[in-house]
Amino acid sequence: MSKRLESMIGWIDARFPLTSNWKAHLTEYYAPKNFNFWYYFGSLAMLVLVNQLLTGIFLTMNYKPDASMAFGSVEYIMRDVDFGWLIRYMHSTGASMFFVVVYLHMFRGMMYGSYRKPRELLWLIGMGIFFVLMMLAFTGYILPWGQMSYWGAQVIVSMIGAIPMVGPTLSNWLLGDFMLSDAALNRFFAYHVVTLPVLLVTLVVVHILALHEVGSNNPDGIEIKANKHPVTNIPVDGIPFHPYYTVKDIFGVVVFLMVFCGIIFFAPEMGGYFLEYNNFIPANTLQTPDHIAPVWYFTPYYSMLRAVTVNFLWIDAKLWGIILMGGSVAIFALLPWLDRSPVKSIRYKGPIFKFALFLFVISVLVLGWLGTKSPTPLYTILAQVFTVIYFAFFILMPWYSKIDKTKPEPTRVKE
Ligand code: HEM
Repeated sequence: MSKRLESMIGWIDARFPLTSNWKAHLTEYYAPKNFNFWYYFGSLAMLVLVNQLLTGIFLTMNYKPDASMAFGSVEYIMRDVDFGWLIRYMHSTGASMFFVVVYLHMFRGMMYGSYRKPRELLWLIGMGIFFVLMMLAFTGYILPWGQMSYWGAQVIVSMIGAIPMVGPTLSNWLLGDFMLSDAALNRFFAYHVVTLPVLLVTLVVVHILALHEVGSNNPDGIEIKANKHPVTNIPVDGIPFHPYYTVKDIFGVVVFLMVFCGIIFFAPEMGGYFLEYNNFIPANTLQTPDHIAPVWYFTPYYSMLRAVTVNFLWIDAKLWGIILMGGSVAIFALLPWLDRSPVKSIRYKGPIFKFALFLFVISVLVLGWLGTKSPTPLYTILAQVFTVIYFAFFILMPWYSKIDKTKPEPTRVKE
């Protein structure tokens, strides 16, 4: 380092903990040396977050949160604003890719037991992130004020109104009106561009702080902090995050950007999965589209919402649907306490856990596919069967994770 740079850094260090933080979070933050493919998605989620924040700022410069102008302003961005089409496609593709990346990130946590002690709070903060992310996607999808924006939001808003006792008041409070209207669009705009992004960024910072407190898990599911060098006190299976994992993550970023650009330039609508065709029609409050389906990342939950068709006990079918849909997301938060296996990673777990996880993935895929279709009697039965499988994965976990035949964990990481 040149003398001049050194003295500049010294000047900053005397006033701000720059070098100490650089060391604590990068050059002297020791991560397990056996990270694999599944460990790319945390840094990719951060990349997509930055993409959404930056492109969102530029979209906001030309978007009009007004029911009579919103649709036109998005068309204006697409046709007349310099590179407006690129900014919009980066943002709309980014929304879907955010879910791709976060779903894979969560799946990694499920495979390697990253939610287990001492990372329970890290997992719960992740759940908070996931909830805010869903709210962000929902409020964002309303903004173009197309047919799907309007009627999709109508489904959700009517659901909020159906919550016993507080429903109607909550719905009025969120919408600022008794129905979806200009006032509601204005509020959703405020939530989407200010409230939720601020919450999301705060939660991501807290997520990283919590991660650096406990340290990363790894594909073997063993704690590297339990095995430190007697002289240096550095975990023997750890390597400094920088430069080793910064370089690894850059490779992930390059591959991700190739896929991301491929979608933006060649298939930005992704066959109606990333941008639904009905949303290219302005919202018409008098005409319901033939078929209302949310964007792909919400379809598994939408299937569960529609799966209950009969009143049961004293609760009507619609409310059961809402309970199941809310429960299907909330139940992830219980994972740290449902898993009773003596080992963390799928590598050492037994055949029952592997089969249960496999069935769970199949149920999510089938429910996701069903959620894009109009309901028929056969599809409804399928949705009911796979909803049961989905919940069984969680509810039966305390039992099958205990009786499963596990392999002994190694004492050192294997690679
Ligand atoms: C905006 C969304 C998110 C961002 C930017 C983010 C970022 C990160 C980063 C950078 C890491 C460390 C690198 C890695 O392990 O891949 C990480 C780890 C982790 N995240 Fe997230 N995350 C997000 C969402 C979530 C969600 C939704 C959950 C779960 C509900 C979650 C749970 C975890 C867990 C358990 C770890 C530790 C994993 C391990 O050490 O094996 N994260 N996150």
